[in-house]
Amino acid sequence: MCGIVGYIGNKNTKEILLSGLKELEYRGYDSAGIAVLQNDNFQSYKAIGKLVNLEEKTKNFITDNFAIGIGHTRWATHGKPTELNAHPHTGESSYVVHNGIIENYAKLKKELIADGVRFLSQTDTEVIVHQFEKNLKSTSTAFDAFSKTIKKLEGTYAILLVTKSEKESIFFAKHGSPMLVGTNSENEKYFASSDAPLIGQCNDVNYFEDGDYGYVNIDELTIFDINGEKKEPIFTKLSQNKLSAQKDGFRFFMEKEIYEQGDVIADTLMGRLNDKEIIFDELDDSLFDGINEIKLCACGTSYHSALSATYLFERYAKIKTSVEIASEFRYRKPIMSKDTLFVVISQSGETADTLETLKMAKKVGLKTLVICNVDNSSMVRLADTCILTRAGVEKGVASTKAFATQVTIFWMMSLYIAQRRDSLGTKEISRQISLIRAIPTSVKVKDSLHERIKRLSKRYLHGHGFFFIGRDIFFPLALEGALKLKEISYLHAEGYPSGEMKHGPIALADPELFTIALLPQHLLYEKSKSNVEELSARDSTICAISALEFDKADDFIKISSHQDYMLEFFEMMVVVQLLSLEISVRLGNDVDMPRNLAKSVTVE
Ligand code: M6R
Repeated sequence: MCGIVGYIGNKNTKEILLSGLKELEYRGYDSAGIAVLQNDNFQSYKAIGKLVNLEEKTKNFITDNFAIGIGHTRWATHGKPTELNAHPHTGESSYVVHNGIIENYAKLKKELIADGVRFLSQTDTEVIVHQFEKNLKSTSTAFDAFSKTIKKLEGTYAILLVTKSEKESIFFAKHGSPMLVGTNSENEKYFASSDAPLIGQCNDVNYFEDGDYGYVNIDELTIFDINGEKKEPIFTKLSQNKLSAQKDGFRFFMEKEIYEQGDVIADTLMGRLNDKEIIFDELDDSLFDGINEIKLCACGTSYHSALSATYLFERYAKIKTSVEIASEFRYRKPIMSKDTLFVVISQSGETADTLETLKMAKKVGLKTLVICNVDNSSMVRLADTCILTRAGVEKGVASTKAFATQVTIFWMMSLYIAQRRDSLGTKEISRQISLIRAIPTSVKVKDSLHERIKRLSKRYLHGHGFFFIGRDIFFPLALEGALKLKEISYLHAEGYPSGEMKHGPIALADPELFTIALLPQHLLYEKSKSNVEELSARDSTICAISALEFDKADDFIKISSHQDYMLEFFEMMVVVQLLSLEISVRLGNDVDMPRNLAKSVTVE
């Protein structure tokens, strides 16, 4: 994910910017850059890859007196990870860095091009600096030009802009992407997109609110609100603990990662859909030529997301799809036929068993595709084609946002294939796309929901086991819910198809057997309900998750009412993640680093 830093002061600006960017490294990025205005001169450096490349490029650049500077780590969305696309972006005499997405950039770009502006990058960000310089020609001050620019932008942003027209200020604006400013007794000003770069540099920080914009210079910090009214900064003390800063105020990385699912899914979608179609620029048009079957292979959580794909692919794309656990597939001498597209799914791209199955598929000449979160990982390098999930760095061992983005990709892929195979009408594809756009909202954690789950969790700390049950695509979600609970609570949990309980497991039913029932309103509701009633009749303790009240449940977690079962899927996913988290917290376990587990399993 992108990161922003900024600095005004007399210290070594270059070092401050680079070390600030280093603090943001953990968020993941593919290029970085800085721009510094010193002695009336701008110097800007950019490099693709890791920060060491930028450090190498700037090694002879010295900043030893008053300067203003901005820096950025970019995680590519609009345009490939190239040096030209890296921030800061420049016009004739100004530089800008930006996190977020300028949704109306195409329109603004068109207007600017018509005015004769030449664009160097493929990014949405570059419009900001050109729009600013255009406005400069018709306004009396540089800040007026900046304010006018901000008013034209639609979308989300955290922006820092520096310009020769106002040599001692940094202009800033925030809407939807986080940013804060800190100051200290030496009157220095530091900006960043999260706390970590400011720790040790300033004690007092102001977190900008959506709609805030303004400027800083060495003597003042001036903020305007969304209505253009001047407002006072609200300084709070910055915790000096780096690790907790990276957690952005959350207790655990897993919790933070659950909460950021809406944002990362928005990144997953970015540039990949319009009102009528799904676009995967990374896929060659001929990928599905001659393909009659899709085989998915993965481990753990990624296996569960792959299972969800079997429902979506067969239902929407009408293509035969099967899924295998990688460690099983490796040794069972599987039949692999050339009309099969072989797809591996992995958060890390390094899981040994999954990697091995990819090698097997390549060896027999199958077309291969990897759905992965880590660019340049072993699987990404090996597969013919790759779709990156864009979940950002996932630190919690128990995977959450990686799963969410994988399922999002699979839903999109099912429509992408449907487009090619004409298996869904254009109207239905458009309808589904509008549902996909609603995923980020459906996974937003509501305080009331989290509070309810926190309270309920105390009733689920004992018992002789948990069954998470669901039908259809809610079965993989049940498996995933059970895996989450096992991993971090160390309680025994199983995921089961609701309709299968009566074929054996129902023998376990008693008050000490906890059933977590997934009851979507829009998919097989009556059938699933009957299965839960069977368990309730045998006195199992039932916790039902549904949009519809269910009086046979001992506990009930109400989700919002959605238009479609897939949106119910995503909200229920958040519920089962939070339930595991809160049970684990109550049991006093290490949520982020559960016993016996590793984030990336590179051994068989
Ligand atoms: O990196 P991968 O997605 O290939 O990892 C696969 C599993 O090891 C992983 O999903 C594991 O099950 C997680 N701990 C689940 O939370």
